[in-house]
Amino acid sequence: MSLFAPLVFPSGLVVRNRAFLAPLTNKQSHADGSLGDDELHWMCSRAEGGFGLVETCAAHVTLDGQNWPGQLGVFDDNLLPGLKRLSAAIRERGPASIFQLFHAGGRSDPAITGVMPWGPSEADGVRAATEDDLHRIIDAFANAAVRAQAAGFDGVEVHAGHGYLFTAFLSATVNRRHDAWGGPLEHRARLLLDSVRAIRARVDRGFTVGVRLSPEDWGRARGLDLDESLRVAAWLAAEGVDFIHLSLWQALANSTKYPDTHPLTLFRRTVPPPVPILAAGSIWTLDEAEAVLALGADAVALGRAAIANPDWARRASDPDWLPRRPPLTIEELRASGLNQTFAEYMRSFAGFVAD
Ligand SMILES: Cc1cc2nc3c(=O)[nH]c(=O)nc-3n(C[C@H](O)[C@H](O)[C@H](O)COP(=O)(O)O)c2cc1C
Repeated sequence: MSLFAPLVFPSGLVVRNRAFLAPLTNKQSHADGSLGDDELHWMCSRAEGGFGLVETCAAHVTLDGQNWPGQLGVFDDNLLPGLKRLSAAIRERGPASIFQLFHAGGRSDPAITGVMPWGPSEADGVRAATEDDLHRIIDAFANAAVRAQAAGFDGVEVHAGHGYLFTAFLSATVNRRHDAWGGPLEHRARLLLDSVRAIRARVDRGFTVGVRLSPEDWGRARGLDLDESLRVAAWLAAEGVDFIHLSLWQALANSTKYPDTHPLTLFRRTVPPPVPILAAGSIWTLDEAEAVLALGADAVALGRAAIANPDWARRASDPDWLPRRPPLTIEELRASGLNQTFAEYMRSFAGFVAD
């Protein structure tokens, strides 16, 4: 499959190619969660880069779910003017837009939120969620999706990867509850499935709804099992999601649990073919992107390659073009559309910023 072939989602959304901008936290918005000009500028620069679809950063659906200073929010209607500016600016530049919905769960930063973080079970500095918390959060995800639709985005992606709220509930080790939200996988997946069902019930069928998963343990995502993740993906497809996005970090690597098998082979067998599968992780070249498609992905999402190369998707088909690779200097990052804060944040990704 060519990276430059269009892709159609079950929602009816058509995108012009299969190179997407991954969701990237960039800390360039205002302390009150409203869109900052630097975040707008950054997203515009990537929307001009030829990508078929761009995803926004993880945006918190409630104030207590914030994880970073300068994070874009989607928790209140008073944020709509900024969100409308963002979606319109992306649309003018050609790509489709997916807004990422997020709650940090036990990883929320109390220094920012002013409240104690909560997750499935009590842990150091984290309280166990009450029933009220969980019903409130399902409603907040649905409200946020409605808001993203009203703002003019083409769809939303529920961030259920990387150890935040939904991953913690899915986890067999972090989630130690014995009620309807913990124990067997059906219970651990309930928060995610109920949230997706609530979103689907409140937005139009033509509005694209997807979910991002970490299929196996990686970094702070712990207690995940590939076979369980496959079951969750199948349940999500049955709930009517328009795509599954796998955060793999190494998109060409086989699975940890089954070292002879690539996770995409298993997900493609499990998720019905009309539901596209997106994959992200260390994709730098056209050959790598097309190798990931050959493994069963329908589209690839680029993070660091798109930070280093604003117009990656426009230039990747040129056989003489070599993408710029890290380390990049802060000045180079500034010149490619990142503000000082975002450029400095890239230091937390080993080897990315030149000293
Ligand atoms: C600076 C930065 C910010 C990120 N922010 C998010 C985010 O907001 N939501 C998310 O799901 N993943 C986030 N990720 C993960 C990326 O979307 C992507 O999956 C990961 O970087 C691997 O792809 P890459 O090797 O192309 O960078 C972030 C990654 C980076 C480098």
